[in-house]
Amino acid sequence: MKILMVCLGNICRSPLAHGILEAKLPEHWSVDSAGTSGWHQGERPDTRSVLEARRNGISIDHQRSRQFQVQDFENFDVIFAMDSSNYSNIVRLAPDEQSASKVRLIMNEIYPGENRQVPDPYTGGQSGFSEVFEMLEQAINAFIERNV
Ligand code: 4NP
Repeated sequence: MKILMVCLGNICRSPLAHGILEAKLPEHWSVDSAGTSGWHQGERPDTRSVLEARRNGISIDHQRSRQFQVQDFENFDVIFAMDSSNYSNIVRLAPDEQSASKVRLIMNEIYPGENRQVPDPYTGGQSGFSEVFEMLEQAINAFIERNV
């Protein structure tokens, strides 16, 4: 299974989601991440995400930000959006229904149908990144358990 994690900048939330899944990656799965914007193209993850990951024994240092592209609908089986804004921005680019159906809100993996958001931690402090990490870890554990 090929999974893509998507947020706005691909420097705070989706790099954490990418790193958490990568650390637990079941056999024959792969994971990548992207941003709906290209604002941080080529940049390393935000230092607060790097620190939060490191505190949890995960290295995300090798990641570099890239923008989501229409080709990703072909390259991935599941595309996880962090919030509703990411979700609609991705679905808007879908060339067909089958592509659109690959897009899901990640928190629905643990709270089905509730459409909960992973809050954007960019303008806040480190505690927002801890909160995001915890949320993502729970959602990713639930997704793995249901799909391996
Ligand atoms: P992310 O956070 O979408 O979780 O990577 C953000 C990163 C950068 C900006 C906004 C959100 N920005 O406005 O540059």
